[in-house]
Amino acid sequence: MTRQEAPDTVAPEAGPVPGEATRRYLRALAERGPVSVDWSAAPPTHKRYPTAGRVVLPWRAPSPIGDLLRGLLGVTRAEWTHRTGVRLKRPAPSGGALYPIEAYVALGDPAGLYHYDPAHHALDLVRVGDHRTLLHASLTCPPAEVPDMVVVLTAVFWRNGFKYRDFAYRLHCQEVGVLGAQVLVVGESSGLDTAVHLRFDDAVCQSLLGLDPTREGVLAAFTCTSGAGAAAGPLPRSSATGEEHPPPSVVGRLPHLSALHAAAAAATGSGALPALPPVPAGPLVALPAPRALRLADGLPLRGSPEIGFLPREIDARDLATILAHASAGYPGDVPGCHRAPVTLTPHILVQRVRGVPAGAYRYDPDTGRLVATAGTGRVEAGPLQPNTREALPEASAILVPAGDQTAGIAGFGDRWYRLQQAEAGLVVHRGALAAAAAGLAARIHSDGTNPITDAALGLSDPVHGLSFLLLGVPRPGMTVTAPLR
Ligand SMILES: Cc1cc2nc3c(=O)[nH]c(=O)nc-3n(C[C@H](O)[C@H](O)[C@H](O)COP(=O)(O)O)c2cc1C
Repeated sequence: MTRQEAPDTVAPEAGPVPGEATRRYLRALAERGPVSVDWSAAPPTHKRYPTAGRVVLPWRAPSPIGDLLRGLLGVTRAEWTHRTGVRLKRPAPSGGALYPIEAYVALGDPAGLYHYDPAHHALDLVRVGDHRTLLHASLTCPPAEVPDMVVVLTAVFWRNGFKYRDFAYRLHCQEVGVLGAQVLVVGESSGLDTAVHLRFDDAVCQSLLGLDPTREGVLAAFTCTSGAGAAAGPLPRSSATGEEHPPPSVVGRLPHLSALHAAAAAATGSGALPALPPVPAGPLVALPAPRALRLADGLPLRGSPEIGFLPREIDARDLATILAHASAGYPGDVPGCHRAPVTLTPHILVQRVRGVPAGAYRYDPDTGRLVATAGTGRVEAGPLQPNTREALPEASAILVPAGDQTAGIAGFGDRWYRLQQAEAGLVVHRGALAAAAAGLAARIHSDGTNPITDAALGLSDPVHGLSFLLLGVPRPGMTVTAPLR
């Protein structure tokens, strides 16, 4: 037997295979069974920092920072229903109303990096100094000038992870997309030029915030400028103030979430986009021209209905308006997103829309038409939660963004998962705001995304539904949602 020659050069140690964490995560979600919720493991509902450097934001006087943060995450609504009594709610939806997303804001005046405390509508100082320049430089596609403020969103993983386990990451990523849609509308109302950033140097942002990424991870940043220009200060060396009760690490608790977050944070891709599935060649349904409607008008009216819908027809023009807004481009850093969302395609199940035959369709944003898809079976046959089963037959239509969860790994590595889920959240929240502005109601039902729904929509592997938004006519007088100001 001949001994093998030792190689002249030692092969570099293989790094993690791009996409492996995503594939394992998707497999784990597909294989998970029912989970029992241990409510005694629930962590605090909100974060506290020492109040020494606190800036209390004005409740009534206009304040660009205060209005923006309150419009994103403030405690702004009282909802009164027969089923749940009176509950305080926030402006944008959150899975299970657990609100795992935190906001930090870098300002030039008063200079500092702050944590937004929604319960007290106040900013708590995390790090002294002007850190906008550093955050601006950490963005993959920074705006031309240093912005007036940079808002960084993080997810406290265990906040909803104790309930949803590894599935919580999907909610975290969708919720930053929801908040991306919300910030663009709130920012526009406040005269701010705002953009959504999903691609940045995670390590820089994470260490600036002084956070342990196994407990709380950075997921998005918003740049906001009023047009007045901003002075970039010197970079001070300062240490971050520690939070009062850090959340637990989820490495052992939520292994697939932890691995995917770490892989997405480290991902550096070429940024090349995969092609979206072509519009199928099915029967076409022309929709009327969308109404001229402002998403901002939906902000004070939006709320997820607790008790389903009135089983009534909606106007085809309202459907056209919702679809046009949901599929519109947005200012962000995913290549091509200024024209339209680029990681997914919008699908719609029509149940009760005047003039549109019931059935499954793909919406073509370029022509504003619906293209019938060859769906099989009924969504009702799927594994649905009781509230979804109740509301589904009453809904007028269901908006489902769909995409291939691995197609973008070649261009974006494991970051693709975040980008696509964020776009899914952005699309459904724009749909919900447009519905509210048109006098309709909408609710996300995540359990509606399953293989039975995919078949009913005519989707086939590797393309799957990413979210599931029921749209319909609200039941009057059953839910009172009062804005708190
Ligand atoms: C990403 C995401 C997933 C959600 N999934 C569900 C769901 O599966 N079932 C459900 O009834 N509501 C779901 N919701 C709606 C929330 O329960 C709702 O937003 C929350 O109770 C707050 O109420 P609001 O929307 O009226 O502000 C989801 C919301 C978001 C943002």
